[in-house]
Amino acid sequence: MSWFNKSVSTFIDKVPSSIVAVFAKKYIAGETLGDAIRVTRKLNSTGIMSTIDVLGEDITSPEQAIYFKNMCLKVLEEIDRTSIDANLSLKPTQMGLKIDKELCFNNIHEIVKRAKSLGNFVRIDMEDSSCNKDTIEMYRKLREEFGSQYVGTVLQAYMRNTLANIDYLSDDKMNIRLCKGIYIEPRKIAYKDPAIVNDNYKYALETLLRKKAYVGIATHDEKLVWYAQKLIREMDLKREEYEFQMLLGVDEELRGIIVENGHRLRVYVPFGKDWLPYSIRRLKENPNIARSALEGYFKSK
Ligand code: FDA
Repeated sequence: MSWFNKSVSTFIDKVPSSIVAVFAKKYIAGETLGDAIRVTRKLNSTGIMSTIDVLGEDITSPEQAIYFKNMCLKVLEEIDRTSIDANLSLKPTQMGLKIDKELCFNNIHEIVKRAKSLGNFVRIDMEDSSCNKDTIEMYRKLREEFGSQYVGTVLQAYMRNTLANIDYLSDDKMNIRLCKGIYIEPRKIAYKDPAIVNDNYKYALETLLRKKAYVGIATHDEKLVWYAQKLIREMDLKREEYEFQMLLGVDEELRGIIVENGHRLRVYVPFGKDWLPYSIRRLKENPNIARSALEGYFKSK
């Protein structure tokens, strides 16, 4: 890592939000649901699906949880009204996990119920390790009631318990987004060596596919995209039996290559006013973005 990238990762939390906003634009559709619909329409026109996310997490009052639940319901209604090819992603801490587990479950339950009635789907994102067990349990209960065509969750390859979670969930059809994991975790809980994280990603992906799970293969790492395509070919999977997933603003060239190779691809489209924590995570992950955004900013002066 260059000195610039190291400094960005270390000091980003202290950078004023007006500066973070310069590069955040790339990762976020905009502040309104209309922005998310507009970006999704553009993606749909190139054969790409989306999953819409209302930005906001770690809320501190039941009123905020209800606000975000209502926003998620609105997203589902708008997807239906506008006939775009999109589903919904949400975060348990946005639904109140850290203040009241029952409130959180009831909120997500209401959203999944609505999604089912509209023939849509809800993905429960996986946050830091303190949310892991509760998220898995909520997913299990919702899957039992609604079925895996209406609700899914996320597993992170950096977590040491991911294979155990696959075993735990494999008594019924699983719908899992598999990603590397983005939160900072202690070594006791998560692998720290990127090579092991990649090996565990491959191991988890193969295990999930052999267990006939529907997998959202969420990565921009071309080595893993290659490995996934190899498994898909060897297992003779049909196009509808899996999908690739990427984040808005990341490696559009790879996005095009995946689609041209005949695979389905979904892009994560976040929108909302609470863009700061999401943008900071993305920037810590790839400080090169800050470099190019700052270069562009100063060149335009
Ligand atoms: P890796 O980090 O090795 O990146 C591979 C290459 O992709 C890099 O070399 C770079 O070129 C490019 N790249 C990656 N991230 C970039 C960025 N931010 N900006 C620019 N370029 C970038 N995590 C989590 O803990 N819980 C969750 O619920 C989700 N949900 C989720 C949904 C979707 C659709 C995706 C794609 C990812 C997530 N993630 C997530 C994030 C995930 O855990 C992980 O942090 C990122 O996807 C980066 O990991 P890669 O597999 O892309 O590999």
